[in-house]
Amino acid sequence: MCGIVGYIGNKQAADILIDGLKKLEYRGYDSAGIAVYNGEKIKVQKYKGRLSVLEEKVKENPVQGTLGIGHTRWATHGAPSDINSHPHSNASGDIVVVHNGIIENYMELKEELEEEGYTFKSETDTEVVAQLLDYLYTGDIVETVQKALTRLNGSYALGIISTREPDKLIGVRKDSPLIVGVGEGENFIASDIPAILKHTKNVYFLENNELVILEKDQVTILNKKGKAIEKEIFEVNWSIEDAEKGGYRHFMLKEIEEQPKALKDTMTSRLLEDQDQVILDQIKLGKKELQNINRIFIVACGTAYHAGLVGKYAIERFARIPVETEVASEFRYKKPIVDEHSLVIVVSQSGETADTLAALRLAKEKGARILAITNVIGSTVSREADNVLYTWAGPEIAVASTKAYTTQLICMYMLALHIALELGTISVEFFREIRDALKQTPQMVEEILKHKHDIQKFADHNFNTNSVFFLGRGLDYYTAMEGSLKLKEISYIHSEAYAAGELKHGTIALIEKGTLIIALATQQELYEKLLSNMKEVKARGAHVVAIAQEGHEEVKKVADEVFYIPRINDHVTPVTIIPILQLIAYYIAVARGTDVDKPRNLAKSVTVE
Ligand code: F6R
Repeated sequence: MCGIVGYIGNKQAADILIDGLKKLEYRGYDSAGIAVYNGEKIKVQKYKGRLSVLEEKVKENPVQGTLGIGHTRWATHGAPSDINSHPHSNASGDIVVVHNGIIENYMELKEELEEEGYTFKSETDTEVVAQLLDYLYTGDIVETVQKALTRLNGSYALGIISTREPDKLIGVRKDSPLIVGVGEGENFIASDIPAILKHTKNVYFLENNELVILEKDQVTILNKKGKAIEKEIFEVNWSIEDAEKGGYRHFMLKEIEEQPKALKDTMTSRLLEDQDQVILDQIKLGKKELQNINRIFIVACGTAYHAGLVGKYAIERFARIPVETEVASEFRYKKPIVDEHSLVIVVSQSGETADTLAALRLAKEKGARILAITNVIGSTVSREADNVLYTWAGPEIAVASTKAYTTQLICMYMLALHIALELGTISVEFFREIRDALKQTPQMVEEILKHKHDIQKFADHNFNTNSVFFLGRGLDYYTAMEGSLKLKEISYIHSEAYAAGELKHGTIALIEKGTLIIALATQQELYEKLLSNMKEVKARGAHVVAIAQEGHEEVKKVADEVFYIPRINDHVTPVTIIPILQLIAYYIAVARGTDVDKPRNLAKSVTVE
């Protein structure tokens, strides 16, 4: 976790760093800091709390200088505090470091340095890096960094400056993301593109173990062996406005409302009305490759895992291949039966999630074919997978994932249809039915979003509840899981998702007068059963809110309230119900006054295990 940014050029670094950090706050926000070289020394300002705290302090106490690094933190080693905030420096303060990742052998290094007389101010692993650089200093900062890297285990993206060579900013990465922004007379490093997009659209993606030396007018990239290498510049094709709030109170609401466009973009050029195929040219997964595959795994975390559950449903139903969907942190440690006949689909919005990446690497090592579904071009997952299917959701800033999820669902359906067509397990008529239903989803989601004020009213009446149960069967159960996660993470209300038929095996004991139940009833083949489950909880005093497809009138007789979605093929309802659940979570969180875009204890990109 954590976000880092660095600047070297002719402009005032502090403004650029703080502005960049604002775009990275989703990566962590328990403390923030900057270090700026003022021509004589490096001045560090760092504080526990949100970035606004740092911003105020820097306003009161401005620092002039055109070289600097900045950091926004999500604590791993050492509680959030001024001292533990980054940047960290050596004792004399002339070597300063920001870090995203975890130095696994920091205790061992710390003891070694303490024996050499070094003392430490913070509890962090990062301070060890600054002190180690001091200890190993050879008279050449680049050489010193290279030497230090041979001593570090773990993951890191580092930004380093030193008064000893103030014409350089050094960046290096291993298992944590780092990009380089190339400007005119100025250059940048950052954990993610939005941090530098205001200044340049030209970026390099650093690979593991590459080191970059930024000077005002020059960027030099060295490989692991220290050899200068040429890399291709990537031109970012989205604008800073795409990553801004655009008049919305929260990114989350903006991103919920962007879903019709994101869905359309994700299907454009892949699902064409007059073509009986899914156009997935980038993916080499034809009949020959598929016949060699006897197992499919879908591996992901959190919301992406929920998309993977729908993926399992779609692939099994359409292509009749057994699929296991696994939480990445579990997959890694269960000695999975993966080999060269396995297809492993990793799903990750950010493409940087540590557990997902580790699962990808494990599967690759075992010879599996890796297909990534991700939203971030150039992310580590996208670079390490054999094939990538991008969700064209655009930048997702709010910590709670919304449009990335629905576009992941679309990718899952497209992939399932593609596999099924290649293997001949579905008819053209069935393909057309699902294709046409998917093509309808953007407009239907738009329709649903028009009624957001009804959902807001509902939230205003129910925000004081302290527990919510989401019930569903089949596909609705997976959507219930995602709805429940959304509510928990941004409103902090206890919530559970239950397979409706399972409730009576224990959990129904928790249902009492007034318990809020959100029952999803969109699946025709399970509809009657779901109605019975609703009756069971109603009989115990629950307040039942149902979500059903238009035309299902009986549900009104059982539920206390009903939200209808426009009628659509049952197989694709996860795409059209989830916006209602996202809005319920959003408006309840707003009514409770939580920090919707940056909920407590969370970060957007979880780059630690
Ligand atoms: C919840 C949420 C998380 C992420 C999870 C995986 O709203 O966003 O559960 O889905 O941390 O992140 P990615 O998709 O970036 O791998």
